Amino acid sequence: MNPLHWPVRMHIASVGVSKFCFLFSLAFCGLLLLLIPAFQPPTRQVDLPQPRPQVRSASSGPSHHARVPAASVHAGETDSATWRNRSSAGQGGSIENEVVRTDNHNPKRGTDSKRGALPGGQGGGRSGSKSRDLLELRDIFIAVKTTRKYHKSRLELLIKTWISQAKEQTYIFTDGEDKELRMRTGANIINTNCSAAHTRQALCCKMSVEYDKFIESQKKWFCHVDDDNYVILPSLLQLLSSYHHSQDVYLGRPSLDHPIEAAERVKSDGSVSVKFWFATGGAGFCISRGLALKMSPWASLGNFISTAEKIRLPDDCTIGYIIEALLEVTLTHTHLFHSHLENLQKLPTDTVLEQVTLSYGGFENRRNVVSIVGGFSLAEDPTRFKTVHCLLYADTDWCPKLKPHHKN
Ligand SMILES: *[C@@H]1O[C@H](CO)[C@@H](O)[C@H](O)[C@H]1NC(C)=O
Ligand SMILES: *[C@@H]1O[C@H](CO)[C@@H](O)[C@H](O)[C@H]1NC(C)=O
Repeated sequence: MNPLHWPVRMHIASVGVSKFCFLFSLAFCGLLLLLIPAFQPPTRQVDLPQPRPQVRSASSGPSHHARVPAASVHAGETDSATWRNRSSAGQGGSIENEVVRTDNHNPKRGTDSKRGALPGGQGGGRSGSKSRDLLELRDIFIAVKTTRKYHKSRLELLIKTWISQAKEQTYIFTDGEDKELRMRTGANIINTNCSAAHTRQALCCKMSVEYDKFIESQKKWFCHVDDDNYVILPSLLQLLSSYHHSQDVYLGRPSLDHPIEAAERVKSDGSVSVKFWFATGGAGFCISRGLALKMSPWASLGNFISTAEKIRLPDDCTIGYIIEALLEVTLTHTHLFHSHLENLQKLPTDTVLEQVTLSYGGFENRRNVVSIVGGFSLAEDPTRFKTVHCLLYADTDWCPKLKPHHKN
C-alpha cells in the first residue's frame, strides 16, 4: 500500500465529499509525474562548470601571439608625484602566470566589430553558441571614477539607483576619504590617494588603480564608467554575454568619427606616428579579462602612468593606444554607451532602456538628458536617472507606486 494515498483515502472516508476532488488529485499527481523528466535537463545544466578559456593554439598557430611582448616601458620613468609605493613582487608574478594561462588570440577581428556596430548592438538571443559566457552580473567589475567634490552631487544618486543593484562588484575610485558615505551606504569606496586635480596625471593615476584592482578581483570583465553615467545592468549583462572573457574584447563608443593620431613614443622615438581608435571614457567602456591581462606590461603597477606620460594623452586615449596601437586589437564600436557630449535628447524614448550607459549634462542652462516619461517630473528628477531606475526596478521602495490603469 502506498503511504502517499493515505491522506486522500482518509479524507474521502471521513468526509465523503466529492469523487471529483479525488479524481482531480489523481490527475494532478499524474501530471506532476509527467513533468518531472521535463524538469531534469536544465537542473543538470546548472551544475555544469563554467566554460574554460579556450586555448586555440592548435588551430590558430602562430606562437608569437602566445606571449606578451616584453615591457618596453621603463618603470624608472614613472614621474608622477601622485603615484605611491606599490612594489610587490608577488602580484607581478601572478599576473605573468595568468597571462600565459588564458592567452589566446583574437578570432576574426572584422566580425567582432561588425557585430558591435549593429543597431541595437549585440546579436540575437542566447541560442547556445559555444563561445558564449554563462555570464552573471557578479562576474563584471564595474569601476566608477569620481572625485571628492562630487560625492554629494553625483555619487549619491548613483548609489541610490543602479549601484544599489550591483553593490558587491561596483568599486568607486575617488581621491578623498569619506567614511560617512561608506558607512551609510555600504558602497565599495576606494581612496586612490591620487591628486584631486582634473589633470592628465591625476586621471591616469586613478585609471591605474582601477586596472590593478580589477586584476586582483579575478572577475571576467572590466567596465569603467564616470560619475555621471547610469549603467543599465541587464543590457550590460546581455551585451557582454555575447562575447567570451578570454577573447580580446574592447567595447565602447568612439568619441570621434576618425582615429586619433599620436607620435609613437613607446615602441619608437616619436619620429613616426600611429593612428588608433579609443572608446571615450565619459560613455564608459569594457575590456575582457583576456585582453586586460595582455595590457599588463603597459598598464599594471604604475606602468599605465608612464605609458600615458610618454604619449601625453588622457587616460581613455591611453587605454586605446595600448589596445589598438601596441596590442593590435581593434575597438568594437558600440552605440549603446552614451556620454554627456552627445545630444541625449535624440535617443528614441522607446530604446532608452535598451542602452548600456546613459549620462546627463548641463541642466542649469541647456538641459541635455534622455527623454523618458515616468514617475518623476523634470524638476523632481533633472537627470532622469530616478525615472529610468523606477522603470527598470519598479518595486524599489522610493519609486512612486504605479497608478492602476482603470478602476473597478
Ligand atoms: C617602497 O618600495 C621599496 C622598494 O622599491 C621598499 O624597500 C620599501 O619598503 C617600500 N615602502 C613601502 C612603504 O612600502
Ligand atoms: C591610500 O592611503 C591609505 C592611507 O595611507 C591606504 O590605507 C590606502 O590603501 C591607500 N589606497 C590605495 C589604493 O593604495
